[in-house]
Amino acid sequence: MSIHRHRIGLMLVLVAALFPFGATFAAKEKPVKAEAQPQEQQFPPTYISTEGHRKLTPEDWKDPRICGQCHTAQYEGWNGSMHSNAFKDPVFQALWALAEKADPTMRNHCGGCHTPIGISTGTVEADPKLGLHGGFTAPEVASMGVSCDVCHTITGSNLQKTAVLEHGNSSYILNPGEKKLASLTDAESPFHKTGYSEHHTKSDFCGNCHNIFHPGNNFPIERTYDEWKYSIYAQNDIQCQDCHMVPVEIASQVADTLKRPEELDDPSLEGFVALGGPWRKVVHKHGFVGGNAVLTALMGEADPDKYEDLGRADNKDEAVKRLKSVASLKLEVNAKDGPLTQLKVRVTNERAGHHLPTSLTEVRQVWLEVVVTDDQGKELLRSGSLDDHNELPQDTVIFNAHAVDANGQHTSFPWEIVRFTDVNTIPPKGWKYGKYYFNVPAGAKDIKVVAKLHYRSFPQHLADILLGKDAVKVPSVEMVAVEEVIPVASLQVASAEPHAHAPH
Ligand code: HEC
Ligand code: HEC
Ligand code: HEC
Ligand code: HEC
Ligand code: HEC
Repeated sequence: MSIHRHRIGLMLVLVAALFPFGATFAAKEKPVKAEAQPQEQQFPPTYISTEGHRKLTPEDWKDPRICGQCHTAQYEGWNGSMHSNAFKDPVFQALWALAEKADPTMRNHCGGCHTPIGISTGTVEADPKLGLHGGFTAPEVASMGVSCDVCHTITGSNLQKTAVLEHGNSSYILNPGEKKLASLTDAESPFHKTGYSEHHTKSDFCGNCHNIFHPGNNFPIERTYDEWKYSIYAQNDIQCQDCHMVPVEIASQVADTLKRPEELDDPSLEGFVALGGPWRKVVHKHGFVGGNAVLTALMGEADPDKYEDLGRADNKDEAVKRLKSVASLKLEVNAKDGPLTQLKVRVTNERAGHHLPTSLTEVRQVWLEVVVTDDQGKELLRSGSLDDHNELPQDTVIFNAHAVDANGQHTSFPWEIVRFTDVNTIPPKGWKYGKYYFNVPAGAKDIKVVAKLHYRSFPQHLADILLGKDAVKVPSVEMVAVEEVIPVASLQVASAEPHAHAPH
């Protein structure tokens, strides 16, 4: 048996060598690709394992609403969050369905982070009637995405077993049951056993899911954890939890002072972590808010009577606040030799613990909109304004990554990605420039420069592909804006002066 398996493995290595990035090819033949993985994996190609390789069923897992009866604050934060929607998210469902059609091993790969319970119990079913491209169903407890019981029964990481020897591709160990793990050393609960887990206090815990590499060619597609690991935040022991499990105002202080929330001694962090428990210095927020204000809009108005909508509006407002907190803009206008004037807009990532944007950088859009007018109201330059189809013009300065498939063609489908040809995301506490040129008309006295930084989760055409043409208009959030009026005279003086030597 093992020899036989080796042979299949060898054949696959050969196939892989002939078609190094032929995920689609190999998969259409038979879904055995996963066996080519070097390690014995319980749910290939993911790196999920269960303690003692125990077989799990949906009955092993608790409904978050039960936890919510004593942990009200955590429940209200989690509910309506991206973690609670990780399986139901219609954008995810649509892309997942396309992924599985291209390569059946994608059911486990994608599901491993978006429905850990569904994959570890083998209960995810495809339903071709759902959505535009088909979709998936799972037992109710598995459809609740990354739920309380998922995170609080993770006992460790399989990072040494992954193909890249780093956290990622759901490299976590599950042990659902009586004992709930987190960072309290003295917790006592009448409902369950408790346990201290150092893993839960570290970014590594998040990295099991917030680092994604292609399961066929190992290309790092999403590397939020890696970006953090080599940042000033990691150097100062600031973990993901320190920004994403506290209110935005506190997260901003954490980013500015490089002090952990515990050290800030802010009374607004205090409270009860459970009904019947003692007063604690820090109650961790469970909305895990990032930048996703879009999904809320996609899923329609929140209905206060539906349990799954509780907390959704708050999480949306918080996402907008977080996006508004992250970056700063600085303008520089320099007259050049010849008729052109140069505008440089410096965009600094002040407060994200990873690149801006991070994760799905091949589809996320953070871009500059710039408009220059003169004192007569004449438009001298316009760049980055959305057109009538809610798309960005070609010349827009976008901070993202350009992904290509094996043929070098642009792709937004993660299973096709073999490399990025251009990466223009902004590192933590680092900056990038947008550069523009325009003509100042003779007789103009002043010019007015308006620069804005915007965010949206994905371009309109991708939403059209996934959800149907015009099913949704992708919303944008204005992150930060600056406006300056500059006397033309000052420019001309500048042009004769040291500016010519300014570094570019
Ligand atoms: C009957 C009430 C009750 C229910 C229901 C309940 N808990 Fe708890 N839980 C508590 C109490 C009380 C504590 C201790 C709080 C303290 O010491 O501040 C606690 C502590 C915890 C801790 C902290 C463990 C540590 O050592 O850091 C976690 C994690 C936890 N619960 C998760 C859950 C999850 C997940 C569920 C649902 C499966 C759940 N709880 C259901 C009452 C409850
Ligand atoms: C994405 C993973 C994740 C999910 C989902 C999650 N938690 Fe937590 N939770 C954590 C982490 C990590 C900590 C510890 C944070 C720290 O100490 O840095 C924590 C802490 C806690 C604590 C200890 C008290 C505190 O504030 O530190 C309790 C109780 C708790 N969670 C309950 C819940 C309940 C109930 C749910 C579901 C409604 C839930 N958690 C969902 C990751 C999660
Ligand atoms: C290792 C864990 C992991 C795997 C594997 C994974 N994802 Fe995700 N996915 C995430 C995380 C984490 C995010 C959130 C990142 C963010 O919002 O910035 C995410 C976000 C998304 C989103 C964006 C949702 C939205 O509403 O904006 C889509 C779509 C998605 N994933 C599709 C997929 C598909 C399709 C696959 C399989 C080809 C997949 N994911 C595999 C962890 C994973
Ligand atoms: C079991 C896998 C898993 C773990 C563990 C996990 N996440 Fe996530 N996380 C996801 C997935 C999947 C999504 C995206 C869901 C979607 O968009 O459909 C997500 C979304 C998020 C988002 C929302 C992004 C946005 O666009 O607003 C943030 C922030 C986040 N996670 C932070 C964390 C932090 C911090 C930790 C560690 C304490 C953590 N996550 C642990 C799987 C996980
Ligand atoms: C210093 C504070 C800070 C730390 C540390 C931090 N983040 Fe963030 N994170 C932010 C801010 C601010 C944003 C919103 C801007 C953005 O989208 O990049 C964000 C956004 C995100 C998003 C949404 C990205 C998107 O556009 O979809 C995810 C996912 C995320 N963080 C996960 C993590 C994980 C995982 C870690 C740890 C490895 C982490 N963050 C560490 C501040 C932080």
